[in-house]
Amino acid sequence: MKKIGIASDHGGFELKEFLRTALAGELEIVDYGTKDETSVDYPIVIAEACKKVLSKEVEGLIALCGTGIGASIAANRLGGIRAALCHDQLTAELSKRHNNANVLVLGGRILGKELALNIVRTWIATPFEGGRHERRVNQLETLNS
Ligand code: RB5
Repeated sequence: MKKIGIASDHGGFELKEFLRTALAGELEIVDYGTKDETSVDYPIVIAEACKKVLSKEVEGLIALCGTGIGASIAANRLGGIRAALCHDQLTAELSKRHNNANVLVLGGRILGKELALNIVRTWIATPFEGGRHERRVNQLETLNS
């Protein structure tokens, strides 16, 4: 069973809780918060959870905020993180196939629950293609200055 983290701010909390419960039988989910709908700052909670991906405590992370935009901006500030904000299954599939995204970002106030669940399942099930995409993914790490 894959070990995957999940984290959100208050804007993503409701969808996080739904996904955590719905995925419990198919993934080992590690919940990095937030724990309720009290307002919290997405840069902090999402960056802390991304560090668990970098330290290999989990194989990947599902990150949520209200729109997914703040979480995605925050996550992509960390070297080694490739966070993909996805609103559909095709972009989720290609984010893994081509970009080897290690963080899937979802908008808790944007997506319906079943669509979000299908996006997560697609992202989890899809492998990285490697080849020419590996060269490009490696180039990303040279961009940090
Ligand atoms: C919080 O209200 C909201 O700004 C946050 O969840 C997210 O949408 C930011 O991008």
